[in-house]
Amino acid sequence: MKFLLFSDLHHYPNVFDGGTWEDLGVLQKAAEENECEFMIHAGDFCHGPSLVPDYVKAYNEFHIPSYHCLGNHDSDKTPIEETLKAYNMPDDHYYFDHGGYRMIITNPNFYKDGEEYVRYSMGNYYPHADTRETMPPDQIAWLKETVESSPYPCIIFSHPSFERCDGVKNRDRILDVIDEANRKKPHSVLMCINGHHHRDFVRIRNGVIYWDMNSVSYDWVPNQHDCYPKELCDEIRLLNHTLVYEDPLYAIVTVEGTTVTAEGMESSMMLGVTREQSGNVPYDKAGRPVTPTVQSFNITLG
Ligand SMILES: [Fe+2]
Repeated sequence: MKFLLFSDLHHYPNVFDGGTWEDLGVLQKAAEENECEFMIHAGDFCHGPSLVPDYVKAYNEFHIPSYHCLGNHDSDKTPIEETLKAYNMPDDHYYFDHGGYRMIITNPNFYKDGEEYVRYSMGNYYPHADTRETMPPDQIAWLKETVESSPYPCIIFSHPSFERCDGVKNRDRILDVIDEANRKKPHSVLMCINGHHHRDFVRIRNGVIYWDMNSVSYDWVPNQHDCYPKELCDEIRLLNHTLVYEDPLYAIVTVEGTTVTAEGMESSMMLGVTREQSGNVPYDKAGRPVTPTVQSFNITLG
């Protein structure tokens, strides 16, 4: 079973130097050349499909099936219901079975307002840093049921991470679901894939691969810099808040039995600018450095 994985494309013309039309073409050509059975991303494809309907259509209507997972920004400028429709998603969380595996796409993009869980829509989450990225209990129950009733090993997708210290707020409850399912039936969950953090990091925790997948496009830096030419910054509004990767990053993922193989890639930072040069600390909150890479690995889960 083989698929093309990418994340955080951030197609937002004149705002980010994110996934361009050319980049989408590179990803689709790679999927074709590698004979991928589908493509999937781990969120933040764009900042609202109503802003870029043709781009979303070009992804959706590709001849290789192409799936979405919601990021925090996907519904920033388009109401969530409309975003789901534009992304051909049956719901904000769903699953599909393919080639003897179950792909489970979750949506932890909720914040809490008192006891209520509020789904991200139109940037409503910005003032709620304390409770952002909390998966509602009913979705955790659905996840448990979807994993435990699966005839196939599962791969779980989410935008924020289930394992990073700054990932999903109630990640311990989600990790318990995964660990319990694997205790009852080994290899119920093989791997969890997330985006959001724009890092390239892979670890194994209790026999499950946790893959913090890099962005196609860039690293976001809190402190604005002036390392890029003024003409470029005039064209692209938030360019000086990013460190751009020279080439679009993705991975070709093959799963066979309990072996996961990722063919990653190495690029470079645009104009060689590093986080240090940009006046930002080199590591993020989880202590992970920015690298214009997606690591390759071959892991057989014992
Ligand atoms: Fe994100």
